[in-house]
Amino acid sequence: MKKAARKKHPARIKKKHQAKARRTIRAGKIFEKRVGSGIPNFDGLIEGGFEKNSINIAAGSAGSGKSIFAMQFLIEGLKKGEKCLYVSFEEQKEHFYNNMLDFGWDLKGSEEKGDFSFLQYTPEKVRLMLEEGGGSIESAVLTKKISRIVIDSLTSFALLFNDELEKRQSILNLFNMIKDWGCTCVATLDENSSAKGRVLSSNFDIESDSIIVLYYLRRGERRERFLEVLKMRGTKHSSKIYPLEFTSRGLVVHKNALSDQVAFKLGL
Ligand SMILES: Nc1ncnc2c1ncn2[C@@H]1O[C@H](COP(=O)(O)OP(=O)(O)OP(=O)(O)O)[C@@H](O)[C@H]1O
Ligand SMILES: [Mg+2]
Repeated sequence: MKKAARKKHPARIKKKHQAKARRTIRAGKIFEKRVGSGIPNFDGLIEGGFEKNSINIAAGSAGSGKSIFAMQFLIEGLKKGEKCLYVSFEEQKEHFYNNMLDFGWDLKGSEEKGDFSFLQYTPEKVRLMLEEGGGSIESAVLTKKISRIVIDSLTSFALLFNDELEKRQSILNLFNMIKDWGCTCVATLDENSSAKGRVLSSNFDIESDSIIVLYYLRRGERRERFLEVLKMRGTKHSSKIYPLEFTSRGLVVHKNALSDQVAFKLGL
């Protein structure tokens, strides 16, 4: 292969992408670069943001705010001039774009500028992509130089597999592929995270770099939202539980954590 052609080879672009991706070394210690989440007051709980090139799971019950949390992470990327991709198995594009306008997020405009892509995929199509070793999604990610990806939701993808071993292998393949692309990912996971009864979805928990749980609990006459960082590899993260609220600009984490007594009363 000629030198110029070799330079343009996807595998080479991929390697270059990764190499510059994630690390700086100071005084012999490796520091992972941090990627801002875009959620006010959240990055301070996780040493400045997600690790670059990591897979982060936002887990929670229906309506807990997973999709908006994930979208907000992409909005932050767009603000910084990054290219972003939202892969949805559930939301209809038009409807989703319309809902996001409530927070002042003009996804149609970002799409027209070539900064944002929304793929409405079936889980089956993603399985095919894995079997093809990347397929057209990989070409799109690498040529558009996408750096942030959302997968909404992993639950739909996992439903494809009856066999536990196959499920685990496929999730691992998906995560590895996203990492190979040099991207940082937030993936949502439907989970009945009603406090003490958090059901561990072990395949995801083991393979992901971090898990953020979004709780949506009834407290007296209404429901309230809370957030907890359950795990984040390589990060000294807060182990407290924080109220989470919707504002006209998206989700905001409260600065003050719940007291141990209140958390206990809520069963958290
Ligand atoms: N503009 C808004 N202002 C206030 N709250 C909103 C607004 N838009 C959505 N919400 C709240 O957010 C919830 C939906 O958030 P989101 O779609 O992120 O949840 P989800 O966890 O992804 O839900 P699902 O499990 O259905 O996918 C709504 O049910 C509503 O309570
Ligand atoms: Mg959702």
